[in-house]
Amino acid sequence: MTGRVVILGAGGHGRVVADILALAGVCVDGFLDDAKHGVVAGLPVLGPFARAFEVGFLDGRAAIVALGENVRRAALSRALCDRGVTLATAIHPSAVVASDAVIGAGTMVGAGAIIGVAARIGRFCIVNTAASVDHDCALEDGAFVAPGARLCGGVRVGEGALVGAGAILLPGAIVPAGRTVPAGAVLRAASLGAPEFGRSDGERAG
Ligand SMILES: CC(C)(COP(=O)(O)OP(=O)(O)OC[C@H]1O[C@@H](n2cnc3c(N)ncnc32)[C@H](O)[C@@H]1OP(=O)(O)O)[C@@H](O)C(=O)NCCC(=O)NCCS
Repeated sequence: MTGRVVILGAGGHGRVVADILALAGVCVDGFLDDAKHGVVAGLPVLGPFARAFEVGFLDGRAAIVALGENVRRAALSRALCDRGVTLATAIHPSAVVASDAVIGAGTMVGAGAIIGVAARIGRFCIVNTAASVDHDCALEDGAFVAPGARLCGGVRVGEGALVGAGAILLPGAIVPAGRTVPAGAVLRAASLGAPEFGRSDGERAG
């Protein structure tokens, strides 16, 4: 991708997104963040999040929301879309993405991640470091696959759901919208049906 980008969120995830964009040859103008000021990772903090909605501020630039919290990331991303802002994607050059995989606007794919054939990754998702999302998987908007998680073929992850670090989702598993698969869990097809994890809806690995 070309052009200039502003990153909303200057925390740890924001710095990772900045690094990915730089490695991908994208010009990052700086961050917006309510809690950070000055310079972060060599880039200026250009103001609070609200600046993104000031008339003209994002003219000629794309934006990406780099917040790990799914609800906030989705809300801010949607608000930007409503204003006609183009959302940037950030795909690490070391990620392996199948030729027919689809990756939505505003999504980040981390170092060493693998996205398989016919996978569909929605908008403003995170497929984090060394995660793999195999053939025919579908991630709805705002889903988050944490580092090292392994999604076998045909897994569906609902809107805003979180697949915890190192979790293994067996073929055809379904994660309902907004739910969390615990870190390290092993999830069989359609096994996340109970209301709370730790009781009956996740099977912990190890
Ligand atoms: C499952 C999870 C959501 C539970 O969080 P929580 O509701 O705050 O639960 P608690 O930390 O209070 O733990 C409750 C119990 O579950 C256990 N537990 C929590 N997470 C667990 C996990 N992933 N695997 C096994 N046991 C777990 C705790 O040890 C505790 O057991 P106890 O009641 O016998 O003491 C959370 O631990 C988790 O795995 N989140 C995913 C985080 C992640 O991968 N983020 C990625 C960021 S990049």
